[in-house]
Amino acid sequence: MKLDNAVVLVTGANRGLGRALVTATLAAGAKRVYAGARDPGQLRDLVADAPDRIVPLQIDITSAGSLAAAAAAAGDVTVLVNNAGVLAAYGVLTSTPAQLAADFATNFFGTLAATRAFLPALERAPRAAIVNVLSVASLANVPALGGYSAAKAASFSATQALRVDLAAKNVAVHAVFPGPIDTDMVRGMPMAKTSPEDVARAIVEGVEAGLEEILPDPASRQMFDVWKRDPKALERQLATM
Ligand SMILES: NC(=O)c1ccc[n+]([C@@H]2O[C@H](COP(=O)([O-])OP(=O)(O)OC[C@H]3O[C@@H](n4cnc5c(N)ncnc54)[C@H](OP(=O)(O)O)[C@@H]3O)[C@@H](O)[C@H]2O)c1
Repeated sequence: MKLDNAVVLVTGANRGLGRALVTATLAAGAKRVYAGARDPGQLRDLVADAPDRIVPLQIDITSAGSLAAAAAAAGDVTVLVNNAGVLAAYGVLTSTPAQLAADFATNFFGTLAATRAFLPALERAPRAAIVNVLSVASLANVPALGGYSAAKAASFSATQALRVDLAAKNVAVHAVFPGPIDTDMVRGMPMAKTSPEDVARAIVEGVEAGLEEILPDPASRQMFDVWKRDPKALERQLATM
């Protein structure tokens, strides 16, 4: 789906990849971009870049009330970018139940709740798309981030279900599997990372090309190739991270 004239909504738009996705979708010609943030006060400078096209919106994807208010305010959305995410749980044996629950609350239940909230708008559009920002850790578990990986794997599974459920309604469903991105989420982890701007541009290209699986950086492409050939080999590779 071309983004020219689309009405895009990006969750977690105040920083990191979400912020870059607002800029990238605007550059692709989006008519309007709703920038969702838990604290819309953090969107001021972003909105100032294009005040006629960026609309700030309070969205906490773990709050039913927040999602309902946002969906009522943004009834013309045609492309929903489920970007908001947390890394709360590390090892599955060392994380507390609360940390594991936090990862699932945002990365699985929150992402699905956001999808359900904006679905009426997406179904009204002649053509629409959902873009779920998952992770290479959705494909095989990174044990150092075991709880996060499990939640992202669950979200990948739900993404596959949505693709089938929404096929007849002209809503395309894209799964994005980034490798390490240079954002706050992995700030303290020394490894090669791709800039959020490059990842955002590649996501836009993938949506416009109609790709069901979007591999937006060199690491994700390498890992996806390994996974397609031999899922056990990716499991062994990610175990070393
Ligand atoms: N960084 C990586 O290496 C990497 C790799 C693969 C996939 N990803 C995925 O890419 C996406 C973006 O992450 P990032 O790297 O940009 O991380 P980030 O810099 O930590 O940003 C996370 C964003 O999500 C928002 N968020 C968290 N919980 C939320 C909630 N309940 N409701 C609404 N917004 C919420 C945050 O808002 P606040 O400012 O309010 O906390 C923030 O805007 C995530 O889904 C992440 O899992 C990241």
